[in-house]
Amino acid sequence: MKGSEGKLRVAAIGDLHVMEDSVAPYRELFTEIAGAADVLVLCGDLTNFGKTSEAEILADDIRACAIPVLGVLGNHDYECGQPEKVAEILHEAGMTMLGEQAVEVEGVGFAGVKGFMGGYGRGELAPFGEPVAKAFVDEAMNEARKLENGLRSLRTERSVAVLHYSPTVETLAGEPTEIYQYLGSQRLADAIDRFDHVKAVVHGHAHHGKYEGKTPGGTPVFNVAQFVLLPLFGRPYAVLEV
Ligand SMILES: [Fe+2]
Ligand SMILES: [Fe+2]
Repeated sequence: MKGSEGKLRVAAIGDLHVMEDSVAPYRELFTEIAGAADVLVLCGDLTNFGKTSEAEILADDIRACAIPVLGVLGNHDYECGQPEKVAEILHEAGMTMLGEQAVEVEGVGFAGVKGFMGGYGRGELAPFGEPVAKAFVDEAMNEARKLENGLRSLRTERSVAVLHYSPTVETLAGEPTEIYQYLGSQRLADAIDRFDHVKAVVHGHAHHGKYEGKTPGGTPVFNVAQFVLLPLFGRPYAVLEV
């Protein structure tokens, strides 16, 4: 069953933070989601420390999920220094890892990256001075460029941008303003706002942020960190019709 007017029902959840002592932590939830949506998008921090043992546990739940699963890693998935191993385990379980490549699901495009920090507006860090400061900003620029390339490769009229870090401060409300610049980068929004076909942006990372916001260009943005969604909806995932 599809959503209204033939739209794709996109379930989204971020910040799963699977730990190595968990037992099938998302098995039941993914079964519920498969009954409520056509595709499941995971917005990073899939594991708590980026351990392969944590990824294997989530991989089993992904294998048992009856709808397509796609998404991006988060900063926690990098903690053990082996994000490519985490991604490989999840990919082998059937999850489509966004990044260099974008995908189409039943006419709707999906492009995504983890993103990076760096701030917004006047608070955006510039690539100036020490090499390490430039390298930091380079990372934010590279992620934005990857996102832009993914979005440009799509030929769909409707698409979804999938991130871990936030492209806007609007969905950070509730977090301390002092840490906004570590929760995302406006460079991600700059990439998104170049394309009319992006109908929604989903991200995680800001556990204490706000569900809804917009990019400066007006694209709807949803913070789907499960800790934001649970008190709001009584369930830890969002369903968007795209
Ligand atoms: Fe998180
Ligand atoms: Fe995070």
